[in-house]
Amino acid sequence: MNSLEIKKKFIEFFRSKGHKEIPNVPLIPENDPTSLFIMAGMQPLSPYFGGEPHPTGDKLVNIQRCVRTDDIEEVGDTIHQTFFEMLGYWSLGAYFKKEAIEMSFEFYTSQEWLGLDPERIYATVFEGDNDAPRDEEAIEIWKKIFKNVGIRAEVYDKKKKDNSSARIFPLNKKENWWGPVGESGPCGPDSEFFYWRGKDKPDFSEFVPYDNSNMFIEIGNDVFMAYNKTKEGKYEPLKQKNIDFGGGMERIALVCTLREKDGSVPYNFTNFNTDLFDTPLSYLRSLVEDESRKSTREENEDAENITEFDLTLTDFNNPSQAVKAFRVILDHTRACTFLVADGIEPSNKDQGYILRRLLRRSVRHAKLIGIEGTFTKDIAKLYIDKYKIQYPHLADMQNKILNILEKEEINFENSIKIGAKEIDKLEASGKKITGKDLFNIFETYGFPIEMALDELGIEKDELRMKYQREFDKAKEKHQELSRKGSKGKFKGGLADSSEITKRYHTATHLLLRALQEVLGDHVHQRGSNITEERLRFDFSQSEQLTDEQKKEVERLVNDKIKAGLKVLKKVMPKEEALKIGAECEFPEKYPDQVSIYEVEGFTKEFCGGPHVENTKELAKSGKFRIIKEESVGSGVRRIKAVLQ
Ligand code: ALA
Repeated sequence: MNSLEIKKKFIEFFRSKGHKEIPNVPLIPENDPTSLFIMAGMQPLSPYFGGEPHPTGDKLVNIQRCVRTDDIEEVGDTIHQTFFEMLGYWSLGAYFKKEAIEMSFEFYTSQEWLGLDPERIYATVFEGDNDAPRDEEAIEIWKKIFKNVGIRAEVYDKKKKDNSSARIFPLNKKENWWGPVGESGPCGPDSEFFYWRGKDKPDFSEFVPYDNSNMFIEIGNDVFMAYNKTKEGKYEPLKQKNIDFGGGMERIALVCTLREKDGSVPYNFTNFNTDLFDTPLSYLRSLVEDESRKSTREENEDAENITEFDLTLTDFNNPSQAVKAFRVILDHTRACTFLVADGIEPSNKDQGYILRRLLRRSVRHAKLIGIEGTFTKDIAKLYIDKYKIQYPHLADMQNKILNILEKEEINFENSIKIGAKEIDKLEASGKKITGKDLFNIFETYGFPIEMALDELGIEKDELRMKYQREFDKAKEKHQELSRKGSKGKFKGGLADSSEITKRYHTATHLLLRALQEVLGDHVHQRGSNITEERLRFDFSQSEQLTDEQKKEVERLVNDKIKAGLKVLKKVMPKEEALKIGAECEFPEKYPDQVSIYEVEGFTKEFCGGPHVENTKELAKSGKFRIIKEESVGSGVRRIKAVLQ
């Protein structure tokens, strides 16, 4: 079974259980400023966990591309990745724990589906705290499921002398509670599925599912999404009880495709040995072996050692620098490919900054294994070939992806040259060089500290650490952009449907229509971002708006607010919605059944909501006012506006 077959089976299985497939969405959350990237399949579904009906139904399934950027520095070990695919299924108030755990278990273990050995499955549940009780219900469900396949399953208890029949591990909130994505929103206790990879049975005095040995591989997570975390930090029950399941594709592929006949998964196999990475890995190997691409940097010891490096990526817990470099390059170039395909370009801000950082880390690691010259576009091409059946937009965007990556790589090569010159200048000045100086050079030219220290000939670990600490301190003072990936960035967003954000959502629809009336029908949405403080709207338009045009747009929006127009939600087939001229930025992103929000007699748009019921509610916040109008790239302008 290869990874594509696993993905097909997943969709097929859940369809056979009455789920409908929803399209996966671009990596950049639309209208949801709580995070920079889609980091879980549930994110676009946030509004529906509270009870709003989803146009496709209450049982859904899909495979969603995701990016997580919390642990960029950890990539290179056996498990961390930035880009991954999540197999997801959901119940929006349709069924709850019993059905979910049973279905997940059937999918993993039935011979008809993935056929994993039930003996190798272990489960975790929530141990309980002040916010929610210990999950006795999940424990009972698990016991029965195991009993049905002839396995005695007890709850693990550290204090017990004999834990040999333990299968179910109660864990705390940090381990077994999922969400919310931002500071507030839907969340709940969860139950995770672990696969034991060892040859013999696990000895719990040595390994438990939640250690970081990677002997137990987490292959799935059923979240019992029945709570809403408020901004004040309280957990309130949601109107309905939902299921949010997510399974990491790469780990499932590792277990399903690389296991031995006896079910064990050899220690030397990691996610990177699955077919998801095969052609890029072979290409990287060929580069390392290519004499004409060998680095001439004398000080690069790793490059010299490369001849002894075992290219089969066999190291497990302590990867050599070279193995780590392989994994970093394989992971980061894939993430870069998908990010550019979803419209991100390298920059010093937000998503563009993460893209730049991932690409530069790839280049730096390639130098560590002695590769000279550009390579990211060649690897990107291999990923495009691999994934284009599933994601046709990769093929459509191929030229753009390859050009952007190559250009950025060449720019970085230049920064390296300039950075090295800056270091020479600093040395020549005779001034004592600190980690802060190296941060400044990094900040201005993108020259990484590791390379700067090599350039300065600083080899001792202790001294390198001292510079690193100073560098980190300077960096901390600077805005910590990279951490924003999954942390709350602004208040508000779709995950939070406060009255104020609803007003801004509706105001955004009024603004688009007003712009079309004033500037012409060429105006379409190119991006949108809403906080409790303002709306931000990007749209297609080349020329700057005149003062008169801005005033006219404001006047139109305020008139519609004053007119007290009804905001109506309608569910209909996508074809019909397009036929009646409903606005839509990415039609291909929407399922066959869509919701349309209509501001009576003024505008119709594809939208998941939430919105106010009548435009007059916007007046409670105040008047609509444009506070900024600027260009954000060729042919796209941006408006920031407030209701005050
Ligand atoms: N949203 C859950 C997760 O990401 C399924 O683990």
